[in-house]
Amino acid sequence: MENKKVLITDTILRDAHQSHAATRMRFDEMEPVLPLLDEIGFYSLEAWGGATFDSCLRFLNEDPWDRLRNLKKHLKKTPIQMLLRGQNLLGYRHYADDVVDSFIDKSIENGVGIIRVFDALNDPRNLETSIKSIKKYGKDKCVCEAAISYTTSPVHTTEYFVNLAKQLESMGADNICIKDMANLLLPFTAYDVVSKLKKALKPDTKVHLHTHNTSGTGDMINLMAIQAGVDIVDCALSPLGNGTSNPATEPLVATLKGTPYDTGIDIEQLLPLVKHFNQVAVRLEKDGHLNPKVRKIDINTLLYQVPGGMLSNLISQLKQAGQEDKLLDCLAEVPKVRKDCGYPPLVTPTSQIVGTQAVWNILLGRYKTITAQYKDLILGKYGALPGEKSKNVVDMCTKSGEEIISCRPADLIESEMQSLTEKVKADGFYEKPEDVLSYALFPEVSTNYFKWRKAQKVGIDKDLADNPNRVYPV
Ligand code: CO
Repeated sequence: MENKKVLITDTILRDAHQSHAATRMRFDEMEPVLPLLDEIGFYSLEAWGGATFDSCLRFLNEDPWDRLRNLKKHLKKTPIQMLLRGQNLLGYRHYADDVVDSFIDKSIENGVGIIRVFDALNDPRNLETSIKSIKKYGKDKCVCEAAISYTTSPVHTTEYFVNLAKQLESMGADNICIKDMANLLLPFTAYDVVSKLKKALKPDTKVHLHTHNTSGTGDMINLMAIQAGVDIVDCALSPLGNGTSNPATEPLVATLKGTPYDTGIDIEQLLPLVKHFNQVAVRLEKDGHLNPKVRKIDINTLLYQVPGGMLSNLISQLKQAGQEDKLLDCLAEVPKVRKDCGYPPLVTPTSQIVGTQAVWNILLGRYKTITAQYKDLILGKYGALPGEKSKNVVDMCTKSGEEIISCRPADLIESEMQSLTEKVKADGFYEKPEDVLSYALFPEVSTNYFKWRKAQKVGIDKDLADNPNRVYPV
């Protein structure tokens, strides 16, 4: 058999601690081992985007842009990978095209070398602007990786994923990622999807697989995908690997050693990294950010096809209502509510939207009350839904004259950069263009951070020091 070296993206600097420890790894806990991480021969290091941006500003008093520049100082060979939620960027709403364009420009300028962009609904229109801007600013310095949010439903067949991948490739994607954030993919399905993608896509389009080990199938998924010809897989160094995180790096490196898929990574060289991140994991656990439970296999995903995070949300909503005994009813209601809105993948924000509506249906009667977000989802405000919506539910959501939009949601948003820039300047916080982007994404959290930053420069401001909502690092 011909050699086909498997490439590994290590997620220790992003998804690993986002999955295990609420994204609380600090830059000073990364810095000492960055030169060694850079030497290993990883395809990329996922280190920015996702929840890191919010966490830096909200909890760590770090400017995420400084973190990116500092990462880039040490990572000279290995590309820094970031995760971006299409038109939502890293925030929780759709942004105007000029914000998306500027955000991508600055991300690449400050050191990002691969952008993985996805949309919760897999609506390619929500990726249009991002892909265009990555190609525009990235040229030969940033790879454009478009990701498919993996899910299961009658409309999400292998053929559906292959067609979507081809569409994303034709829009300009260099890589196609299968993003199985909830660990719903099963090993034999992974084989099927990957082999068909490899056949359908151009020979130089790389297929990248991202899965988790939440329900314990992650390593098998990776191995089957590798046999089907996947080019790159995501792993996390073992101190923060497995469980709700990505499958651990070292076992895969050892498994492939001496086979045609050999990663070329020297497992001995990983040891100092393992030792270092073990200490970081101890610190995260000591500070209450890491609960050892996240490392165990949780078969609920296999049983109910709902992502782990969604299950804990359902439980906490029912607990608040004092109706915890209704959990099984809610779990049975989720697939019905999801079917009624055309089978969206259950990922942020759709997992919360569908989950909350299911809870309300059980507690108050089916669709007796429809949440504003569920209505917006039905009205097309998040993008096109993959399947047919229930006519009954559509009628309920449009009975007061609301219209279903069929255009790209961002077409309804006016340019925002100029007014945002003026606002940050008028507030006296403007130091660099990136500040406007931080503010655009997280206005309140950024303002708190900017105040703190200012206070550091001019001495502590008493009002600020007394602000009970401000979290100071300990
Ligand atoms: Co993930």
